[in-house]
Amino acid sequence: MSSEPHLFVIFGATGDLTSRKLVPALYKLLLSKDDGQSVILGVGRSELTDEAFRATIREALQESGCDKKHATNWCAGSVHYQQVTDEDYSQLRRRIENVENERGLTGNRVFYLALPPSAFEPVISALGEHELATSRGWTRLVIEKPFGHDLASARALNALVHRYFDEAQVFRIDHYLGKETVQNLLVFRFANTVFESLWNRDRIEEVEITVAEQLDVANRAGYYDGAGALRDMIQNHITQLLTLVAMEAPAKWNAEAVRNEKVKVLQAIAPVELDHVVYGQYEAAGEVDSYSNHDGVAAESTTPTYVAMRIHVDNWRWQGVPFHLRTGKALPERTTQVTVTFRRPPVSFFSDLATEAFDRDVLVLTLQPDEGFDLCIDVKHPGDTMDIDKIPLSFDYADRFGVVADAYETLLADIIEGDQTLFVRADEVESSWEVFQPVLDSEFSPEPYAAGTWGPAAADEIAVTGWKTGASNCSED
Ligand code: BG6
Repeated sequence: MSSEPHLFVIFGATGDLTSRKLVPALYKLLLSKDDGQSVILGVGRSELTDEAFRATIREALQESGCDKKHATNWCAGSVHYQQVTDEDYSQLRRRIENVENERGLTGNRVFYLALPPSAFEPVISALGEHELATSRGWTRLVIEKPFGHDLASARALNALVHRYFDEAQVFRIDHYLGKETVQNLLVFRFANTVFESLWNRDRIEEVEITVAEQLDVANRAGYYDGAGALRDMIQNHITQLLTLVAMEAPAKWNAEAVRNEKVKVLQAIAPVELDHVVYGQYEAAGEVDSYSNHDGVAAESTTPTYVAMRIHVDNWRWQGVPFHLRTGKALPERTTQVTVTFRRPPVSFFSDLATEAFDRDVLVLTLQPDEGFDLCIDVKHPGDTMDIDKIPLSFDYADRFGVVADAYETLLADIIEGDQTLFVRADEVESSWEVFQPVLDSEFSPEPYAAGTWGPAAADEIAVTGWKTGASNCSED
């Protein structure tokens, strides 16, 4: 696959995502490919000249560490702006054609919707109605999360998208899939037979996926209060991690084969037992104010800022193995980990140890912030007695490879190359909502937890051998 010169149209051009992630990533990408022909066209409701828009982009590029002079020259030639105030896209269409003609482009276009979800429907319809869903070259549609608010809205959005676009044109973003270490999960599993041969119910007792955030909801309460932790993190990011951990080896390394296997995992998830779900909402502690005091949070809001649950993947490989999923805001640290707990030996000669909490071998895959893995194994402590220590066999990404690329760089490169492997397919997003819809439909009220703690104590009842992230699984000594 190759990247060809194209027009990259960003809806939501004056938003935070555009300046913080998209433009710096595009700048690096185009530079690395020596592409002096592709153009960015920002689209927004604000009245801005090209020059005023370029000034904001220049500033964003400088903040992300780009050379001032080079960034200024690049913006002058490669960045444009078009105001759109209603759903009449005739003017936008003319502008697109003009920019393409000036630059000698052949009609390859990306439409990136960096927009709030309420804007997806009108923009997709307007693109379709103004015959912008196809062109002389290729046309790709990129949709940011959240994709739907529930199963019905996700289905409706898919139906609308498919009215104008083929699935092969659609790139649904889940930025977790662009993280280097998330992709490494697949290499770890399928390039190392030593682990793959253990990766099943015979050897694994349980799997935990924790995405812990130290930050509170900050100034995003307006969005967050209508979403909550289940919609914001579990239905998408954590479920994506789950599919990569649990999937079978694809027949080939291509988008359809990989996504087919991910969908099969989702379809095998057993109905979630509601008493295996714990919700929490943080209360004031230290510097952090209560969730309920944030501007934008409804009075008496029952929006969960924390969810922990146990689920089962009912297939041959995973029958009987609990998967523990957990996420929360205002927790003690920012960590994303997959922990795989192996079964105890069938007979333990070292019986004293067998009663300890972490006597099982644990594989800890840290996806952020200190990317790498630790395999915690038993080692005899030197001396006369049979004392045993848990010691990590460790690999640290940064030590070996230095800084890892931002997820958006990876994802934008794939969009431009037309590789859909790391994007969520229509049936995948719907299967994921199908799993969680009954949970969303159930009545609950979140339990309070103090900011800076690991969430409500009730969550400890869910994890069969205890939550591993945040506990000391191995010692460094
Ligand atoms: C976003 C959520 O999708 O992911 C945020 O809406 C969350 O609430 C963020 O903070 C976490 O992403 P990362 O890459 O910082 O782990």
